[in-house]
Amino acid sequence: MRFVVDTDLCVGHGRCYTLAPQWFDCDDVGYAEIKDVVIGAGERTQAEDVAAACPEGAITLVEK
Ligand code: F3S
Repeated sequence: MRFVVDTDLCVGHGRCYTLAPQWFDCDDVGYAEIKDVVIGAGERTQAEDVAAACPEGAITLVEK
């Protein structure tokens, strides 16, 4: 399971890296960057919550 960020939709709200700094970082202008870490099966609910927290709907959780 991993995140995908649609860079056309991300405008830098920053909820992703504020809520989940273990999974997200920000670039120099505050847009989301995905860290190269594995999301465990037991973290699915938290991961779904983080994806849902983006006001732009820019974050998707995919299986591979
Ligand atoms: Fe961008 Fe959404 Fe995060 S707008 S910075 S992906 S909360």
